[in-house]
Amino acid sequence: MRPKILILGKNGQVGWELQRSMALCGDVVALGREQANLLDTQSLLVWIQQNRPNLIVNAAAYTAVDKAEVEESIAHQINALAVGEIATAAQEVGALFIHYSTDYVFDGGATTPYLETDAPCPLNAYGRSKLAGELAIQAVDGDYLILRTTWVYATRGQNFMKTMLRLAKERDSLRIVGDQIGAPTWARFIAEATADMAVKALSKRDQSKFLSGIYNLSAAGETSWHGFASLIIDYAKKHDNLIKTTEVSPIDTCEYPLPAKRPLNSRLSGDKLNRDYGIILPAWDVAAELCLADILH
Ligand SMILES: NC(=O)c1ccc[n+]([C@@H]2O[C@H](COP(=O)([O-])OP(=O)(O)OC[C@H]3O[C@@H](n4cnc5c(N)ncnc54)[C@H](OP(=O)(O)O)[C@@H]3O)[C@@H](O)[C@H]2O)c1
Repeated sequence: MRPKILILGKNGQVGWELQRSMALCGDVVALGREQANLLDTQSLLVWIQQNRPNLIVNAAAYTAVDKAEVEESIAHQINALAVGEIATAAQEVGALFIHYSTDYVFDGGATTPYLETDAPCPLNAYGRSKLAGELAIQAVDGDYLILRTTWVYATRGQNFMKTMLRLAKERDSLRIVGDQIGAPTWARFIAEATADMAVKALSKRDQSKFLSGIYNLSAAGETSWHGFASLIIDYAKKHDNLIKTTEVSPIDTCEYPLPAKRPLNSRLSGDKLNRDYGIILPAWDVAAELCLADILH
């Protein structure tokens, strides 16, 4: 029987791609903020009880990292309290719950890529709310996968790649943070990896071999925001003759102060994902060029 799949956050970067990648995995119902507002989960919880999906994938989240510093209770409601309620509803109907989290649960002080077992220590309100969401899911005795991802970009929505493409047409030079290291990760590959994991996880459940857990899910390799910006500008110059930027210089985080502190090391090890699900995401630069081709051609 085809699984019934509920996707939340259908208009976000990852949610948009999930609607496409999950379509072959089962019968999908995708809801956005208008149909399922996580500030008031009552009707969503009733919907889950009545429709009894086999799989719930939550890509809805409060993602405004700097605004969260002054709206921590709203971020906590959406990223933690609502998530715990959905996890409970999933457990009650026997659904597998897949949820996304972030490298911002860490303080970035490590010198190597983070493992799933490393102790979290968020630097900002958004990170605290996402960590609280992870803990809320784990407190429920249901089947879950928490997928920690990083530096997400997509053809749609607000993201670093789209901002760079806009600025490249407006400015001769750009100064971009060079001391934060991570792996920019394309929402499309997050969604495709999620679909692959979901099929395998549902099959493991049928064979009573499924284990809930946290998995890192980020592109292979590493770069800085400056490295990412440089690739975007170089690619854009070759494919768009309106690009003005001729110079991209690295600066330190302290030269670009923002309300929320960011970790300097956002690298996440993909070893567990490869070991348990046989998935390795493509290198960040390969994926970035594929996304740029989608945006610019
Ligand atoms: N973006 C990143 O760099 C990044 C990095 C690490 C982890 N993550 C995690 O990855 C997941 C997907 O992120 P994303 O980049 O796809 O985020 P996104 O593009 O910001 O999308 C988030 C979605 O959540 C929806 N949403 C916000 N408040 C809501 C509410 N009260 N009720 C229902 N829906 C609400 C938004 O709705 P509207 O469309 O109506 O605004 C939006 O569609 C999230 O869990 C995020 O925390 C993201």
